[in-house]
Amino acid sequence: MDWGMKNRLYKTINPKTGKTVMLAVDHGYFQGPTTGLSDLKKAIDPLIPHADCLFITRGMVRNVVDAKTKIPIFLRVSGGPSVLQEDLSDEHITVSMKEALRLNAVGVGMSIFVGGKHESRTVSNLGKLVNEAQEYNMPVLAITAVGKEMARDARYLGLACRMAVEQGANIVKTYFCEQDFDKVVEACNGVPVVIAGGKKIEEKSALEMAKNAIEQGAVGVDMGRNIFQSDSPVGMIKAVNAIVHEGKSVEEAYGVYEKEKK
Ligand code: 5RP
Repeated sequence: MDWGMKNRLYKTINPKTGKTVMLAVDHGYFQGPTTGLSDLKKAIDPLIPHADCLFITRGMVRNVVDAKTKIPIFLRVSGGPSVLQEDLSDEHITVSMKEALRLNAVGVGMSIFVGGKHESRTVSNLGKLVNEAQEYNMPVLAITAVGKEMARDARYLGLACRMAVEQGANIVKTYFCEQDFDKVVEACNGVPVVIAGGKKIEEKSALEMAKNAIEQGAVGVDMGRNIFQSDSPVGMIKAVNAIVHEGKSVEEAYGVYEKEKK
């Protein structure tokens, strides 16, 4: 792996722990002002000191992130359909590699919709993005988006993640599944796997999910709603850090959240 690629990956995955807490705040790219993110600056400023990197769109980088920031920027570069559409798979690449370089991004991320109507185009888009990104040592994160009608089980997630790895993704973001998540990680053959948090659930359950994912081989989380929609977003991101970077138990991490909430 070339120096630039390694350096960008080390800015995302902490070299001391080999793990990452990515803060996902890109939801507006198809959901608009998602609960908790309407005023994005207000939402993320207190969280930034506790995140390894921000997963965000280029528009919001320019509008709300202070250029003096030290937080690495991982850019969402796909989009198209809004939440109003039945079929969310009709995505295109919307951001050029030059734009990612202009913003000093440490990586670019896009969704593939395996099983979706536009499966083929999104997978081919991933391959093309990797072709271009490789020229600049820019890591590519592939997000295995799940259609409304698809089960989030190890068989499906393993298929989608493996397809992303075969196209050359450098990091894979997927959902956690209760059964055989380790098989999903195995299918990625050493390519780092991070989990999305999904819909807001009770804080302790979200911490349990993070703990189980780490124990089964994930290198971390790219988590959004279970952090910024919590009644204590700072408490929650600190608790997630305790699990991901410090190897703390769910009970200990929950204590971190409760202490901050007071
Ligand atoms: C939206 C995304 C989000 O970044 C991803 O789903 C992580 O956020 P959350 O933890 O809220 O699921 O890719 O499409």
